[in-house]
Amino acid sequence: MENIHPIFDQLISRSDKEEFLNQRAKVLWFTGLSGSGKSTIASALEKLLFSKGYLSQVLDGDNTRSGINSNLGFDLNDRTENIRRIAEISKLFLDTGLICINSFVSPTIEIRKLAKEIIGKENFIEIYVNTPLEVCEKRDVKGLYKKARSGEIKSFTGIDSPFEAPINPSLEILTDGQSVEESVEQVLEYILPHISLG
Ligand code: ADX
Repeated sequence: MENIHPIFDQLISRSDKEEFLNQRAKVLWFTGLSGSGKSTIASALEKLLFSKGYLSQVLDGDNTRSGINSNLGFDLNDRTENIRRIAEISKLFLDTGLICINSFVSPTIEIRKLAKEIIGKENFIEIYVNTPLEVCEKRDVKGLYKKARSGEIKSFTGIDSPFEAPINPSLEILTDGQSVEESVEQVLEYILPHISLG
């Protein structure tokens, strides 16, 4: 580290970029079981924000695990490293003035605490996509629950690996019984005061 000389003071500041984009940068951290609807809500939200003049970036476990995190698996160490890297990447987007929409199972309280610490609590909005396991398993869009039940996949969240629900999330979305549009509206209503410049 002693030979590393960061140049933060020479860069255009985050607040200059926020002014330029006319928005306040935040990280919207969606947590929930696989198949709970995180990614669907995240991409619909990105489109809605865009139509209202807000610039955002979606980071999604399935995408980043096929690129920057392709060397990571699903034991607790690798999930922690997955989330640590994503949190660091999110900070770069924050410094670009963007609204970062993150969609990660991020299954434990400790893992989400790490993300919040790296990102900074003033930048971090935790959104719990609360869909019952039975519903996720019934949907089984990717066929992964079936594989987890048959033992073909090990350490699958909700089956043989834990999911700890957030105790006090910024927002909780009960997707069962409401449409994607309703869920996205709920998120939008909550975040607008946080992403709007005064
Ligand atoms: S996290 O636990 O490290 O936050 P992440 O969100 O990146 O997980 O990736 C979860 C996605 O990977 C799931 O939506 C699912 O498609 C896939 N996946 C593959 N194996 C597992 C597993 N053992 N547990 C959970 N998700 C898995």
